[in-house]
Amino acid sequence: MSTTHDTHSTEDTDDVSPDELRAMSTEDAMLAGSEADGVHIVHRRDRFPVRGTKAEKRVERAVALTFGISALAGVGFIVAFVALPYHWHLPGTPQNFRFYTPALGALLAVMLIFMGVGLVLWAKWLMPEEEAVQDRHDDPSTEQDKLMTEATLLSGLEDTGLPRRGLILKSLGLAGGALAAVPLVALVGALVKNPGNKLFHTQFRPNKKLFPPNGHVPIVDIDFRRIGPDDLEPGGLLTVFPGIHQDDADGFNGITDASSPTLIIRLKPGQKVKARKGQAGWGYPTDNPEFVAFSKICTHAGCPASLYEQQTSRLLCPCHQSQFEVLQDAKPVFGPASRSLPKLPLGVETGDDGKQYFVALSDYHEAIGPAFWNRP
Ligand code: FES
Repeated sequence: MSTTHDTHSTEDTDDVSPDELRAMSTEDAMLAGSEADGVHIVHRRDRFPVRGTKAEKRVERAVALTFGISALAGVGFIVAFVALPYHWHLPGTPQNFRFYTPALGALLAVMLIFMGVGLVLWAKWLMPEEEAVQDRHDDPSTEQDKLMTEATLLSGLEDTGLPRRGLILKSLGLAGGALAAVPLVALVGALVKNPGNKLFHTQFRPNKKLFPPNGHVPIVDIDFRRIGPDDLEPGGLLTVFPGIHQDDADGFNGITDASSPTLIIRLKPGQKVKARKGQAGWGYPTDNPEFVAFSKICTHAGCPASLYEQQTSRLLCPCHQSQFEVLQDAKPVFGPASRSLPKLPLGVETGDDGKQYFVALSDYHEAIGPAFWNRP
């Protein structure tokens, strides 16, 4: 097989017969085909004219290494996706500084970057260098054309060195397998990684270990100040959270937990909530609630439904304009939301300083956020 060609002549290769083409080497038939197609290869040089040299092996190992790293990162992605909890954080870092998603992104990036680098190095370091000039033509293909095209494809395959570069072939197979497996794992991840009933609980769940003896979780504002009835004016509303510090409980922080934002609303004198069945005593005071608490997460698509219109006693979600009637226990009365905002059973306890503070008497009794979470 020739290894170097400079400035091929443009002889008329249409006259080459099929038998002559069959008798040619793959590369010569490919070159003849190129000429017949009006593709003039003006320069072509094999980067390693002598096969199997140490230099070639070294380059081959380098390319295989990049594919190997890509494959490892793909396997790492799958393992991290399946094995790490979503609130995973690096040891020694704050618990609200979560690394699960960045870790998946970084592993995916490493996989794709090394796959790309490997392909570029392979083309640059191992495949023949070539310069070609091409004419355009519209004629239908002749028998010769077809044979020449076949030779071109075979020569291209030979140029890749795949049939004889087993190491690269295997490492590329591994990296390609990982590349194919990653989206598959992400797509069927919900089947592989059962979230259990985590989505149906928030940090308002009673915790006797942290808050003995009854486990009622204190209610705090964004600055972790405990909130009591005196902190709201009639008609006022406040965003509150479970009073759990990041170092209180395993991997959770009441402030940053996505399902925890809650609205406490103080009704105006004369206003009365028509409670849903079984939820009549879930405000404070229980017999005729003046304070009620609802999840701030819109049941349509999860935006914060925090615009409170005092005059109409409606909570508005700015994303798609759903409106929730507070006096009907936050029932949706306009817009795409189809489910009431979940209500938090609210109570009051006396703090160490003798003042009255709100607590959650239990967790929410239904799933927070978009309605599809509720469906089996
Ligand atoms: S997220 Fe609230 S209306 Fe769509």
